[in-house]
Amino acid sequence: MRTALLLLLGLVVVACSDAQPGSGRKVVGFAQIGAESAWRTANTRSIKEEAARRGWDLRFSDAQQKQENQILALRTFIAQGVDAIILPPIVETGFEPVLRDAKAAGIPVVLTDRSVEVTDPSLFTTFIGADFVEEGRRAAAWLAKTTGGKAMIAELEGSVGAAPAIDRKKGFASGVAGYPDMKVVWAQSADFTRAKGKEALEAFLKTPEGRGITAVYAHNDDMALGALQALAEVGRKPGVDVIVVSIDGVRAAFEAVAAGTLGCTVECNPIIGPLVFDVLEKIGRGETVERRIVTPGGVFDASNVREALPTRAY
Ligand code: AHR
Repeated sequence: MRTALLLLLGLVVVACSDAQPGSGRKVVGFAQIGAESAWRTANTRSIKEEAARRGWDLRFSDAQQKQENQILALRTFIAQGVDAIILPPIVETGFEPVLRDAKAAGIPVVLTDRSVEVTDPSLFTTFIGADFVEEGRRAAAWLAKTTGGKAMIAELEGSVGAAPAIDRKKGFASGVAGYPDMKVVWAQSADFTRAKGKEALEAFLKTPEGRGITAVYAHNDDMALGALQALAEVGRKPGVDVIVVSIDGVRAAFEAVAAGTLGCTVECNPIIGPLVFDVLEKIGRGETVERRIVTPGGVFDASNVREALPTRAY
C-alpha cells in the first residue's frame, strides 16, 4: 500500500516537471502543506512564480494537510535526486528520519513558513519565516488596547501540533498575562480553515458560556472570517458586540477590517518566493546562509487598512 502510494505520488510529482536532475536546470522539490487558507495559496503562487522567473524546475506536491503525504513527497524528491527541497512542515515533530535521509543524499532542505523540532540542527540549512510568538503578542497587545484590558475571549487555534498554532497561542497568552480581566474562556482547533472556524465557533456561541464572550482571537484570517459568519448567524454584531482579531493580513481580512467587522489582522507575509530562491541560489554557489531568516510584518486595523488595501497583493 505504502509503495503504491509512493509510486502514485512520484507520478504526480514528475507530471509537474519537465527537466531531469543533471540536465542543466536546477531542480527543486516543494512539499507544500495544502491549500487550507488564502495565505497558503498565495504562498504557493509566490514560490511557483519565482521558480519560473528564475528558470528553476519546480516539482510541486500538495500534502492536503496530512503529514504522511508530506513525508511521501519528500521521499519521492530524495529518490529523484533533486538539487534542493523546500519544506513548510505541517507539524513540528516527526520529520527527523526523512530529513536524515535527505542529508545522507546530500540534498539541502530549506524550511519555509514553519519550523521543525529535531535533535540535529544540521538536518536543515535554514528556516525562513515569521516570528509566530511575536505575532500572537501583537494580537494580544492590540486587543488589550482596544478593550481597555477587559475581554472574555474565544480562541480559534490552528492545526494541532503546527508551529503557528503552538507559538501564536504562546505569544497571545504572554500578551494577555498582565491583564487580569482578559480571559481566554474557550479554545478549539479549527485547522486554519474558514469552514471549521465557523462551525466550531457557532457551536460554542450557542452555549451559555459562548453567549458571554466579548472577543475572538483566531490564529489565522480564514478562521476569523468563518468566525464573523458564525457571529452574524447567531445575531451578534462583529466589531460591536464582539471584537475579532486575527493573523495573516489577506485581502479578504483587509476588506473585513475596512468594513468594520474584523478589528485587526497581524500581518504574516506569504510572498517569500524571491527570498527563498535567493537562498537556494546562494546554497547552490556554496555560500553560507543565515540559519534563521525572519520575515517582517505589520499590524492593520481601522487606522491604516484603507491606505494599504488597494495594493494588497494577496
Ligand atoms: O503557517 C502559516 C499559517 O498557515 C497561516 O497563518 C495560515 O493561514 C496557514 O494556513
